[in-house]
This record gives sequence, C-alpha cells and structure tokens, in this order.
Amino acid sequence: MALYSEKVMDHFRNPRNVGVIEDADGIGEVGNAKCGDIMTMYLKIEDDVIRDVKFETFGCGSAIASSSMATELIKGKPVAEAMKLTNKAVAEALDGLPDYKMHCSVLAEEAIQLALNDYYSKHPDKKPVEETN
Ligand code: FES
Repeated sequence: MALYSEKVMDHFRNPRNVGVIEDADGIGEVGNAKCGDIMTMYLKIEDDVIRDVKFETFGCGSAIASSSMATELIKGKPVAEAMKLTNKAVAEALDGLPDYKMHCSVLAEEAIQLALNDYYSKHPDKKPVEETN
C-alpha cells in the first residue's frame, strides 16, 4: 500500500488556497518545535461566514496537504463550524495520514483556531456567548 493517499499527494502537489490575505480579519501562526514546521492561516470573515481563507506552510508534504484540505473544509462555512474542525476530520478528508504524520494535521487545526481567536479578540462582540448549564 502506498504510504500516502492519492488525495494527500494531490493536495501536496496542487495545494489550494496558498497565499496571504493582506486585510485578513484573523491570522493564526503555529509551529511544531520538534520538526520546525510553520503554518500560517489567514481568514476573511463576513456575516459570521468564512468568505476567504489562505495559508502559507513552511513544512512537510503532509502539513501542506493538511493545510490545503483544511482551507477547503472551512471556506464558505459558518465560523461556528470552522471552530469545530478537528485534525482528525482533516486527516479523514485526506483519506488518512500515516500515524507518525498525524501531528502535521494538528498544525492545521491549531492554526485555524488561533486565527479565529485572533478574529474574536479584534471583534469581541462577535464572540458566541458560552452556553451555561
Ligand atoms: Fe512537521 Fe509534518 S513533519 S508538520
């Protein structure tokens, strides 16, 4: 069996949504201290919907494929949905990653979370009210 799925190879070779959003509403940058890879996500948000998302990843093929897939999964989606995106969902959408490469998909989840936190810190009024009980 091939180590990487067709989807991983496709998103690695032809990553979607690569680049920078100059006037991004939220930016999240994360790194993995062990491998030294870095990922930055840029979000453009309007009416609580992710209108645009771009990424820059200085990292391994799995990190590039994970960021590309993650952007596809949240583009056009409500912010609340993007907030719930897990690295597992990213890896599943890529038809799996080898176990020792799962941490690469974690970068995508974390970068999106950080970008959303950045957005909420700039727009505290948009922050969903925590449910109690
Ligand atoms: Fe570092 Fe993949 S090896 S993110």
